[in-house]
Amino acid sequence: QNNFKVAVAGASGGIGQPLSLLLKVNPLVTELSLYDIVHTPGVAADLSHIETVGKVKGYNGPENLLEALRNADVIIIPAGVPRKPGMTRDDLFNTNAGIVRDLAKAAAEVAPKALIGIITNPVNSTVPIACEVLKQAGKFDPKRVFGVTSLDIVRANTFIAEGKGLNPKDVSIPVIGGHSGVTIIPLISRATPSVSFPEDQLKALTTRIQEAGTEVVKAKAGAGSATLSMAYAGARFANSLLRGLKGESNVIEPAYVVSDVTESEYFSTPLLLGKNGIEKNLGLGKLSDYEQQLLKAAIPELKKNIKAGVDFAKK
Ligand code: APR
Repeated sequence: QNNFKVAVAGASGGIGQPLSLLLKVNPLVTELSLYDIVHTPGVAADLSHIETVGKVKGYNGPENLLEALRNADVIIIPAGVPRKPGMTRDDLFNTNAGIVRDLAKAAAEVAPKALIGIITNPVNSTVPIACEVLKQAGKFDPKRVFGVTSLDIVRANTFIAEGKGLNPKDVSIPVIGGHSGVTIIPLISRATPSVSFPEDQLKALTTRIQEAGTEVVKAKAGAGSATLSMAYAGARFANSLLRGLKGESNVIEPAYVVSDVTESEYFSTPLLLGKNGIEKNLGLGKLSDYEQQLLKAAIPELKKNIKAGVDFAKK
C-alpha cells in the first residue's frame, strides 16, 4: 500500500500547522485530514493549494471529530495547551489530559487500526492515558500507540555534531527513557560516529539535551514552547510510521511505548516498525556506568508520571 490517510488533531496550532505542511509535502500522504476546534477551514484551504498529491480536508469543532479521524492509518496528536507563565504544571496536565482522553475515545470508535503518535505534553503521562482509554473501549493494541520522542534525538544529534564540528546528518545518538527532564537518557556512549568527551562536558551535554525544551520556552518569553523543531520531529516520526506501514524493511525509530524491556511500564527505545506498528522493540542495549546512573534517576520519575496518567484515565 502506498496511499495513506493521515489525520492531525490540533492542526491549527503552533506545532500543528508546520507539521501539516510537512505532511502535505510527503508523497505517502494521499489524504491529509486536519482537525482542530478553531481555524481548520483556513489552514486546509491554504495547504490545499500546494502542488502535491495529498488531498487536504479541514474538520472544525467536536461535531466533526469522528469524520476527521475515520479510518485514518496514522493519527498525530499535537492538540493541547503549551505552558505559559502563570500556569502550573497541573493546569497543563488537567487540560491536556482531558483533550487526549477525548481524542483517544474518538480514535477507538472510528479508527481502531490507526497508529497513534502523541505529541501533547506531558507525553510521559498522556500516552498512558490514551492506552487506558483504548483499553476501556476494548480497542487497545500496544503496538500501535506511541509518544513522539524524536525531538530528543534530533536535539542530541544537533548538539553533539556542534560539539565535535561534524555534519549533524552524519551523527546518530540513541535517546531512551521518557520525554521530560531527567527521564530523557541520551546514550552518548553509543553515538555514531563514536565520540568521547571529558566527564564535565559529557554531563553538561546530557543536561542540555534534557533541558533543551526549557531553552526554547525561555527564548520564546511567554509565546509558548518548541513548535517548529517539534513539527519537524513529528513529521520525521510520521514518515517512519508510514514507511513501516508501506512494508519497507529496517525502519527504526525511537518512541515512548508500552515496554517490557525495563521496570517502567512505558519507556522509549529504538523500535523496528512495520505493517502493524511495532514489529520489534530493540531494547536498551549496553549502557555505560554514567548512563546506568541516568536510568536509575529516570525510573522513579517515570513511574510517577505514568501513575498520574493511569489515575486520570481511571477516574
Ligand atoms: N481538540 C483539538 N484541538 C484542540 C483542542 C481539542 N480539544 N484543544 C485545543 N486544541 C488546539 C488549539 O486550538 C490549537 O490550535 O490545539 C492547538 C494547540 O496549539 P498551540 O496552542 O499553538 O500549542 P503548541 O505549541 O502547538 O503545543 C501543543 O504540544 O508540545 C506540546 O506541550 C505542548 O501540549 C502542547 C502541545
